[in-house]
Amino acid sequence: MCDCESNRSMDVKTPRNVYLSGFYKRSFAFYTIKNRMPVIITSLLDNLARNKLKLAEKYEEEAKEEIKTVIGQLSKLKYEIQTNKPLKLLSSQAADAKIYNEYITRQANEEGHATYFHTIWLLAECYMYRRIWQIFETMSVLKNFDPFQDKKEESFFTALPLIEQMGKYLWDSIHDSTTPSEDEFVQFMKLNLWGNKCDLSLSLGKVTEENTLFDISSLDKQILSDYSTDIWKAISACDSSSDIVDIVFDNAGYEVFTDLCLADYMIAKQLAKTIRLYVKTIPWFISDVMTHDFHWMLQQLKSHENHVLQNLGERWQSYIDNGTWLIVESDFWTLPFDYTYMARVDQNLYKQLAEAKLAIFKGDLNYRKLFGEKNWDPTTSVDQALQNFNPTKLAILRTIKADIVCGLEEGIAEKIEAEDPKWMETGNWGLIQYSNKIVEIK
Ligand SMILES: *[C@@H]1O[C@H](CO)[C@@H](O)[C@H](O)[C@H]1NC(C)=O
Ligand SMILES: *[C@@H]1O[C@H](CO)[C@@H](O)[C@H](O)[C@H]1NC(C)=O
Ligand SMILES: [Mg+2]
Repeated sequence: MCDCESNRSMDVKTPRNVYLSGFYKRSFAFYTIKNRMPVIITSLLDNLARNKLKLAEKYEEEAKEEIKTVIGQLSKLKYEIQTNKPLKLLSSQAADAKIYNEYITRQANEEGHATYFHTIWLLAECYMYRRIWQIFETMSVLKNFDPFQDKKEESFFTALPLIEQMGKYLWDSIHDSTTPSEDEFVQFMKLNLWGNKCDLSLSLGKVTEENTLFDISSLDKQILSDYSTDIWKAISACDSSSDIVDIVFDNAGYEVFTDLCLADYMIAKQLAKTIRLYVKTIPWFISDVMTHDFHWMLQQLKSHENHVLQNLGERWQSYIDNGTWLIVESDFWTLPFDYTYMARVDQNLYKQLAEAKLAIFKGDLNYRKLFGEKNWDPTTSVDQALQNFNPTKLAILRTIKADIVCGLEEGIAEKIEAEDPKWMETGNWGLIQYSNKIVEIK
């Protein structure tokens, strides 16, 4: 058995300016690979075992056999992680699998073996979700089964009291007058920021109730970097040649509802004519939004007894029907690359983002990818840490759930660290960051 973990992991924190990796024992990456990733698979195993009969009813009797196979393969995957095996090449015939395999091979050539604990954390964690999907991909009746769907649905239902409040708030503000205001826009953006706290990957699949997220003025002191005013200026500027805004989603449930409230505010107040909504194409980090989650939510809203939610559901459906909102799928979001790779690996996507006057990136994984999965000195500027990923102006909204941060003023990180040693893991602290640098590609 490979003993390389105990032989090679270093009992230190992640040094500055290197990739995050489980190699550094006192890092959140190590904790995640050692504890969180196996627990996520265990809870998936439990769910499947518990729902076997229900699934057999819904699909076919064949599902029972397939679930057995899935359970066996998931257990193997868990064992590979726990024993720090090298990442196996994917066997899937899907186009993204080839890109994964090339990247894993390249990493292995550089590192000796690309193992879970020793390779770049981003690769190890994305790979786990891709492997989980591969297991389902190869089944026949379960081949499109989203193993996290019931969790995502549960989180929507749990958040309904918040969703009703937020829905009413939006409804009132789009009906009061047509002029947008900075205060109101920023309010929607902050509600949207705190919506990002609801993350099933962080809570290991447990759906929890958040009651304080609507009381956002009390949360202002937890925003460590706040460029709301610059974002407002970018969105309200009359000189922009584009009237498209892009939103790169993170989680389903309450968060995506707040994404759509912000999107509707921008449409209703004529800050944008078109909003493109970027979703994942495979089940991802438990709670990330896929196209079917989006439609499921619209269905729930349209058939809800609350009239405001019903009206919003109808309104949002017509945005989709008439192209005011476009759902955009791309495999790039579930590749293991940080965004410095986008200009090379997916030029079309980079150029597409460049058409927007503003691109809003939501959440922790987008943050890790935007800033190259590196342990920056927290005072490193946003533009330096973006390393030329600047397709258009960027608004970056994220509650902090991993030990990577940049763009903070001198002394902030130290101050918060002293006050709250786990500040980078809880989602209790937020960032609203901005870049207006543009780097075009030919
Ligand atoms: C390191 O690996 C070798 C060979 O696999 C093993 O014999 C040794 O016990 C390991 N050392 C530690 C500290 O685990
Ligand atoms: C699309 O639908 C919305 C909501 O019904 C409506 O306000 C808007 O004018 C429509 N846009 C177009 C281009 O038809
Ligand atoms: Mg997520």
